[in-house]
Parts: sequence; structure tokens; C-alpha cells
Amino acid sequence: MKKNILVTGGAGFIGSHVVRLLVKKYPDYQIYNLDKLTYAGNLENLADIENADNYHFIKGDINDADFVLSLFKKHPFNGVIHLAAESHVDRSIESPMEFVFTNIVGTVNLLNAARTAWQNQFEGHIFYHVSTDEVYGSLEHDDEYFFETTPYDPRSPYSASKASSDHLVRAYSHTFGLPIVISNCSNNYGPNQFPEKLIPLAINNIKHNKTIPVYGKGENVRDWLYVEDHAQAIDVIFHHGKTGETYNIGGNNEWKNIDLIHTLCSVMDRKLNRPEGTSRKLITFVKDRAGHDLRYAIDATKLYSELGWEPSLQFEEGLSKTVDWYLSHEKWMENVITGAYEAYYKKQYEQR
Ligand code: NAD
Ligand code: TYD
Repeated sequence: MKKNILVTGGAGFIGSHVVRLLVKKYPDYQIYNLDKLTYAGNLENLADIENADNYHFIKGDINDADFVLSLFKKHPFNGVIHLAAESHVDRSIESPMEFVFTNIVGTVNLLNAARTAWQNQFEGHIFYHVSTDEVYGSLEHDDEYFFETTPYDPRSPYSASKASSDHLVRAYSHTFGLPIVISNCSNNYGPNQFPEKLIPLAINNIKHNKTIPVYGKGENVRDWLYVEDHAQAIDVIFHHGKTGETYNIGGNNEWKNIDLIHTLCSVMDRKLNRPEGTSRKLITFVKDRAGHDLRYAIDATKLYSELGWEPSLQFEEGLSKTVDWYLSHEKWMENVITGAYEAYYKKQYEQR
């Protein structure tokens, strides 16, 4: 069956990998990328597929309910993969309201539009919400994991807004029968990630001999997954996930922040031909993030046993590929930091 898929947030980090995978793997599908192009949206991430016949970019804001509904009336979407969001915890601490608007209200606008446009003819339709493991809260002990059944306990404005949107997506399924699926994934890393997040920020700072800010004592633990593996998991869940279900996605790859930074420093020393130990000197312990969650760890057994997905890359390989990508995409980093891409692409699309 041919599919018309709306991907939201496709110009962002994870969304760009999802869009590329779908455009290349499914030439019979039409892929519509709806993105507002906030500071985190960058069409340069999709330059290699922007002229593909089955790819369409739509600049727009999911917070605009009328616009979103008109889009669903114009295009016969039968699948939605919803990634658009404000995604950075530190920004959510600085200004929570943006997170409420985009992550909660924007999601409800999409749910309403899908429900209205699909007119209760739900056969062959699916609304997929891409979410985070941060909704489950923080783990205190090494032997604890997040399961799909773990009660929600969000603790930052970001995770609270994602938890709200997950609840609303489930409520639309329960109350209106909207066919939905949700995945909750651990921390992603890889090409195209905005350098406010730990790994690209550290790579960029090391390259320019700037300090690497480590929050608190660097003891917080995150589970890291290569972004292309996440995109593969989304493809599998979108096509084969059971309607109404939730799937955890993880890398089975937990690192204390300080150990991860030490490893990254060694990789950078090697790649930049600097004596081992050079980059480590840049580590600077800074004031901890308010409410900093101690540990996230995912049990992704359900996804493996029911749908056969598991990560394809070992962390060492993924980190090496990631460092290579950032070192060979200096211009990308420069454009992102100076905001140059924003001006360029916004102008280009406003002229169409
Ligand atoms: P990102 O910040 O890199 O990209 C977000 C994208 O959404 C950008 O292109 C931005 O322009 C777009 N956007 C923001 N507000 C919008 C609006 N109002 N209307 C339309 N588009 C808008 O985020 P990411 O890291 O790629 O995360 C994508 C999704 O995956 C998010 O929902 C996030 O919660 C989830 N997630 C992220 C991670 C991670 O480690 N990055 C892990 C698990 C889940
Ligand atoms: P981040 O990449 O912001 O993802 P998240 O907060 O969603 O997990 O941060 C990953 C971890 O690294 C988190 O424990 C906070 C920490 N961190 C630092 O120590 N220094 C930094 O400059 C940043 C951005 C994050």
C-alpha cells in the first residue's frame, strides 16, 4: 500500500535521519516534512534528499491549529510520525512555556487534526508519537531499569511536557479510538545534533581548545544510542508495532558523563593528532543542572522480542563515526552556531 506520511520536526536532529531513511527506503511513499525551523531545525541536514520526487517540505508551526487542520485536509496523510518538539532540558528550565506550547498544545493540535480529517475511518492509519525515556523519572540504583510499565515520574519541564503529550496521545486512543503507537527512547548521539547537547558541544569545544563544562561531579548516567539506530527502530515500530502499544528503545549502553567525556577526549586526541591527555585538561566542573536526574536506563526487551530490533553499532564505532562527521563538517557547525543557515533557508522558502 502506498503511504502518505507526515513527519513533524524532520529538519531537526533525529527527524532528519528518519526523513532520509523513509525517503530512500520507500520510493513509493510520499514523505511530508512539517517543520517550523526553530533554532534547532536546519534544512542543510536534508540537502542530499531535498530534490527527491517523494519528499516535500512544508514550513509551518504545529501550534497553529487552523494551519495544521488545513494541512490534513489538503494531503491524504495515512501516517503521522510526530517528532517536532522543544528538546533541550536546560532550555526548559530557562523558559518552560515554549515547551508547554509546542510539546503539549502542538501535539493536541495534531491529534485533533488527525481525528477530524480521518473522520473515524481509522483502518490503515497510524499516529506515532516519538517520546523520551525521561518521562519515567530518575533511577537511584544500578540494577534498576525503565520498562514500558514503569509509572511516569517526570521531573524537568521538558520531561513533564513530553509526559503530558504521551498521556494525551493515549487519551485520544482510549476515548476516540485513534490508532496510536508511542516509543520512549534514551539519549541519542550522532551527526546533525545541535551543539547545545553534551556530545557535539564537547567535540566542538575540544576542537577549539575551549573548556568542556561537566555538570556537578559528572556522575549522572545516560544510555546512549546512535541516531541512525533510533531511526531504524522508528521505521520498524511504524510498520510493525502493535496499535495502542508503547515500545522502549535503548542502546544498552550506559555511561557516567565523566567516563564518556574521558573516552571522547581520548578519541579526539587521536583524531587531532594531539598527545594523549591534551583534551582532558579542558574538563571543567561547573554548577549542576537544577533537578538533574541521576540515571536513565532502558530495558528494550519488548522491542527486541516482539519486533526483532536491536542496536547495530557498538558505542566505540558510533562515537568514532560521530567525531569524524563533526570534524569533516566544520561549515555545518559554523553555520549552526552563527545562525547563518537560518537566514539562508528561511529566505529561500519564503520566496517560494
Ligand atoms: P531537535 O530539537 O533537534 O529538533 C526538533 C525539531 O522540531 C526542529 O527541526 C524544530 O524546528 C522542530 N520544531 C520545534 N518546534 C516546532 C513547532 N512548533 N512546529 C513545527 N516544528 C517545530 O530534537 P531531536 O533531538 O531531534 O528530538 C526529536 C524528538 O525526539 C523530540 O520529540 C524529542 O522529545 C524526542 N527524543 C529525543 C531524544 C534525544 O536524545 N535527542 C531522545 C528521545 C526522544
Ligand atoms: P544532554 O545532552 O543535555 O541530554 P539530557 O539532559 O536530555 O540527558 O545532557 C546529557 C548529560 O550531560 C546530562 O546528564 C547533562 C550533562 N551535561 C553536562 O554535564 N554538560 C553539558 O554542557 C551538557 C549540555 C550536558
